[in-house]
Amino acid sequence: MSDLRGIAPSILAADFSRLGAQVQEVVAAGARVIHVDVMDGHFVPPITMGPLVVDALAGLVHEAGGLLDVHLMIERPERHIADFAKAGADVISIHAEATPHVHYALSAIREAGCRAGLAINPATRPDVAEDVASIVDVLLCMTVNPGWGGQPFIPGSERRVAALKALGGPGVAVEVDGGIDARTIGSCATAGASLFVAGSAVFGTDEPAEAVRRLAQAAAEAAS
Ligand code: DX5
Ligand code: ZN
Repeated sequence: MSDLRGIAPSILAADFSRLGAQVQEVVAAGARVIHVDVMDGHFVPPITMGPLVVDALAGLVHEAGGLLDVHLMIERPERHIADFAKAGADVISIHAEATPHVHYALSAIREAGCRAGLAINPATRPDVAEDVASIVDVLLCMTVNPGWGGQPFIPGSERRVAALKALGGPGVAVEVDGGIDARTIGSCATAGASLFVAGSAVFGTDEPAEAVRRLAQAAAEAAS
């Protein structure tokens, strides 16, 4: 089974004044995938973080046996893959809507030694992934519109999760991102998702470690 599974806490919702400690806390609670949301002020309005933050967390995450999952919400992501790979990214996901060169970008991610992911927005048809399914490791289904944490899960997204799972087959993990919490995680797991990004539902609580454990349990129960 792919190691791209379980809860992926999104540091977008973390307290950046103590980022290392926050990441350490969720890793100690069993999270093995740390999600990093990169936004450029063009593909999505906000500007967030870049390779420097990936580099700052790489040692800590890798020593614990974890993976850095970098979600590029940026235009023309192919221009930045080398920088993120060098900084220590393990998985790099690009958006289907962000470049005319999806196949090239995904190939470049693998050539840089990383796992490749294709992300799709809520209005993008899942079959956009069909012709690149053989060169991706993960298909990322946005369950909110990208750009901000704390938004509500878009009802009916499970249908898109199931379509991506069918397209990717057993070797490709399906990741869900946006509005994932104790209420929404179960139906996504049942639909075929195995990697669950959670920002507010983890770092927006008083006890991120406990939140990771609860979400993991809810996902496991739904999938079994
Ligand atoms: C949104 C980001 C998400 C975000 C999720 O554009 O891609 O990863 O951090 O945040 P929550 O879990 O709060 O919806
Ligand atoms: Zn994300």
